[in-house]
Amino acid sequence: MGQRINVMGYRLTASKCLGLCLVLTFVMGCYLAALPIRYEKEALPNPVRQRITSKELPKKRLAVLVPFRDRFEELLEFVPHMYSFLNRQKIPFHIFIVQQKDNNRFNRASLINVGFKYSQKDYDYIAMHDVDLLPLNNNLKYDYPAAGPVHISSPQTHPKYHYDTFIGGILLVKREHYELVNGMSNNYWGWGLEDDEFYVRLKDAKLTVMRPSNITTGIDNTFRHIHDKTYRKRDMRKCFNQRDVTRRRDHQTGLHDVQYNLLNTHTVAVDGLNVTVLNVELLCDKSRTPWCQCPEPVKPVVKKSAGKK
Ligand SMILES: *[C@@H]1O[C@H](CO)[C@@H](O)[C@H](O)[C@H]1NC(C)=O
Ligand SMILES: *[C@@H]1O[C@H](CO)[C@@H](O)[C@H](O)[C@H]1NC(C)=O
Repeated sequence: MGQRINVMGYRLTASKCLGLCLVLTFVMGCYLAALPIRYEKEALPNPVRQRITSKELPKKRLAVLVPFRDRFEELLEFVPHMYSFLNRQKIPFHIFIVQQKDNNRFNRASLINVGFKYSQKDYDYIAMHDVDLLPLNNNLKYDYPAAGPVHISSPQTHPKYHYDTFIGGILLVKREHYELVNGMSNNYWGWGLEDDEFYVRLKDAKLTVMRPSNITTGIDNTFRHIHDKTYRKRDMRKCFNQRDVTRRRDHQTGLHDVQYNLLNTHTVAVDGLNVTVLNVELLCDKSRTPWCQCPEPVKPVVKKSAGKK
């Protein structure tokens, strides 16, 4: 027989008492565990609470996406330049060189789609960034474009393009907005127009493109444009029905259906500064966009025996 104890008029066995104590301890423990947190939160004066919340908010991370092919010289300048430019602004960023490795014509927009997919889990916004356009003015802020896309290389400052709706060169877009418009069209093989089509996508989605204010430099001294136009000929060819199709808004293709193989990735350091190179094979559906390879113009064969010119 167990010892009997008299508690508040109840006669309990020692084992029953132990059980009750355990339950009470558990309940009290739960209460105490919940208590201090609530208590501290309530007790903090407002400014302190705000300081803690803003500290806990991580800074938005920027993926600089550089569509790339045959621009090694430019890359060697671009990487150190961007590191010092963005470090001055304290932007957390990483540079992704999205290199096209197939034999199709260059497709800047599809490469940006691929770079976006690769980086979207870890980065909050992208900069679509030409490798040959180096920002010089520190008032060009690469901050998180919360309200809408920010066009860094505005027509007032871009060395070459000055029409109002131009959004090429360097454009910041947050992840949600890029997804909202289904990224960029995959139809643009060869040079040009993909950025104009993207402008219409943004407009259709009622997104307003903003531009940096407070820029007092002009087209000669806001950027350094490292583009040799005789050595680096742009691929302006138009073949098949490319001209017609690429002048219209593309409601079909984009981020969700870009066809590619990621062949491999490399970490490459330029002056000790790491960038990630994505080697990408873009796949072309020739029944849909046959102009991903323009046939070389056939040179007329002159028969020597014909004697007629
Ligand atoms: C404009 O630029 C000047 C010079 O860099 C700077 O002092 C000023 O704060 C800027 N103003 C705004 C509104 O960003
Ligand atoms: C750069 O990449 C190398 C190889 O992946 C790595 O060991 C190194 O820590 C990186 N450096 C920095 C500064 O991130």
